Amino acid sequence: MEARLNELEQMAKNEIQEANSSDQLEKVRVKYLGKKGELTEVLRGMGSLSSEERPLVGKVANIVRENIENYLLEAKNSIKSKELEAKLSTEAIDVTMPGRKTNLGKKHPLIQGMDELKNIFISMGFQVAQGPEVETVYYNFDALNAPANHPSRDMSDTFYINEETILRTQTSPVQARVMEKRKPPIRIISPGRCFRNDTPDATHSPMFHQLEGLVVDKGITLADLKGTLEVFTKYFFGSQTKIKFRPHNFPFTEPSAEIDASCFKCSGSGCSFCKGSGWIELLGAGMVHPNVLRNCGIDPEVYSGFAFGMGIDRLVMLKYGVDDIRLFFENDMRFLNQF
Ligand code: PHE
Repeated sequence: MEARLNELEQMAKNEIQEANSSDQLEKVRVKYLGKKGELTEVLRGMGSLSSEERPLVGKVANIVRENIENYLLEAKNSIKSKELEAKLSTEAIDVTMPGRKTNLGKKHPLIQGMDELKNIFISMGFQVAQGPEVETVYYNFDALNAPANHPSRDMSDTFYINEETILRTQTSPVQARVMEKRKPPIRIISPGRCFRNDTPDATHSPMFHQLEGLVVDKGITLADLKGTLEVFTKYFFGSQTKIKFRPHNFPFTEPSAEIDASCFKCSGSGCSFCKGSGWIELLGAGMVHPNVLRNCGIDPEVYSGFAFGMGIDRLVMLKYGVDDIRLFFENDMRFLNQF
């Protein structure tokens, strides 16, 4: 029996040494020391021994059990540390690697341009007003004195949601909304998105941005409009800039004008940028039509005003030499990062 015990110890020792995971080790433990294990089996057979033999064999059995337990403990510790080492090496952080760069976002060039324009007018005492992009036909056309047959009302020019609702084609409806709600003096600008049923090309986008301006008070004249736009263009394009008024027609202003700025590339002598004319078309403007004042509950006998509207996309393109409006909306970081 003693020989059998020593043989078991040797077998267990070998198997313990071969085990290379905690699971395998546990299987070996059960095989020898478990309730139905080999050693337990041998100990059960001790009943048949003589009373002299029993304590001797019992002693050997205890030593064998203790030895096996020690082998198990040792193996367990070394396997544990090996497993930990393996885990650490696969999850290792290489502190010498360069860090991952996170790209900080920044303002889109159009928003930068819009902020710049806003700041110029805010410094002149204008307040910023907002209006809805989904607008009614009434505010976009009727309140603004647009005749029933005005071509811009056509479905081929305007996105209709239903008969009375459209995507605003200009920021001018904000004029009417503000005049309805506030008593003069009024001095507001309104930047925002506009929509027209245009096929995209280098100078057209079905979604674009305008900035509207409106001043209404007693005794406002064309000279106020001229002075305001002069200050604005000098701020935006440089102090050399001159402006000129060209007669034009808008339903909601009378008289109306288109305003050109002297070319800031050639200072007006004519270059490829201004196509040799020395002038660059900037914006539309005029004195608020009496009908519009009346439509909005303001007495044109008492008050007068001026309004202007400019394309923000166009102004930013001019200022930074961007030759295709579509670049603004393609989200190409190589383009956007240049601003
Ligand atoms: N709303 C006009 C346009 O989109 C511009 C404009 C605004 C003209 C205000 C006069 C006064 O072309």
